[in-house]
Amino acid sequence: MIASFRERFGPTQQVRVFRAPGRVNLIGEHTDYNLGFVLPVALDLATYIATAPSAGGRLRIYSENRQELREFDVSQLGSVQPAREWTDYAVGVAQELVRAGVPVEGANLLVRSTVPDGSGLSSSAALEVASALAMLAGREFDRLELAKLCQRAERNFVGMPCGIMDQYISVFGRAHSAVEIDCRSLGHRLVKLPEGITFIAVNTMVKHALSGSAYRDRVRECAAAVEGIAAVYPDVQSLRDVSPEQLEGVASRLPDVVARRARHVVTEDARVNRFVEASLHTDVTGMGKLMVESHRSLQHDYEVSCTELDFLVDAALEIEGVCGSRMTGGGFGGCTVTLLRAEAVSDFRTKIARNYEEKFGVVPGIYSCEPSEGAGEVKNFETIPSLG
Ligand code: GLA
Repeated sequence: MIASFRERFGPTQQVRVFRAPGRVNLIGEHTDYNLGFVLPVALDLATYIATAPSAGGRLRIYSENRQELREFDVSQLGSVQPAREWTDYAVGVAQELVRAGVPVEGANLLVRSTVPDGSGLSSSAALEVASALAMLAGREFDRLELAKLCQRAERNFVGMPCGIMDQYISVFGRAHSAVEIDCRSLGHRLVKLPEGITFIAVNTMVKHALSGSAYRDRVRECAAAVEGIAAVYPDVQSLRDVSPEQLEGVASRLPDVVARRARHVVTEDARVNRFVEASLHTDVTGMGKLMVESHRSLQHDYEVSCTELDFLVDAALEIEGVCGSRMTGGGFGGCTVTLLRAEAVSDFRTKIARNYEEKFGVVPGIYSCEPSEGAGEVKNFETIPSLG
């Protein structure tokens, strides 16, 4: 990567490399913007950015994946408009850094990512966090503020009203652990996963066009639910504050769709807590059941699944050694995550790939979900992967 950087941007004294991982969410879907709980792990799949300062006030960003170079004048960054392409994540971050009082200086950036695009494994947050670290170039910055700044970049510049999960886990991920995030207090705790099991993500390889607009609709529907429930329980500020019993009492006052959206969120929050308990008690069967309940709730109440995801979940549950499976991320394509016994992995990979290909004529991507460290500077360049 360093050689590739020098070839493109010329010989430079010192090149630094920053890494930010993608994620898979084990449980707690569409709960983050309702200020509830989520349980993601940071992945080995990550975005790497090699960078060095450059004279002349230009910010040059080259994507190895896309083989595209984009160039900006740092004094004009504030007036750049979204281009609806990959650079928006980096430019959005640059604008937020400037807003936070951090000057963005002329620099060259070379981006390499092993997080598959559009896979629901959070390639956008990985690019945002890696860009922020590259532009900070080693300057001190509070880690929680970093996650929040990257979320603001996505909300304000890219225009996606996302929650905090993806940026947070990219920053705070930890090897060997899942991370339970409280999206209201923005604190977290590390959750040890039982021995002898593993998680595998399977990529449908589709991203339905609906995903962006449906996400916005869900955010609005949740706000409508809060408004309706607060008419009865004035203390309720978000769905996080609503117990399953309270919801049952008021559900008939809400439009049916709104009530179902709220039921997903309220029951999903409870499932995260039960899943963490089950994990701490090495109750693998219990964990698996909760994942399937989560999927059914996303499929029928929240309606963010799709044929391909449902097929992968149902097919996984037929395979020996599988304890549970569900869609992960925003939905309408992307990946499922499956909990299975370690010794069943190779058989699972073969069978799920064959079944999916037979049905849809597409070979699914399959990724191991070994929990990895959160974002930071790469000191050992040998660990940087090449592009497949
Ligand atoms: C996307 C968003 C996250 C979260 C998930 C659904 O990944 O970026 O903030 O809302 O969808 O859980």
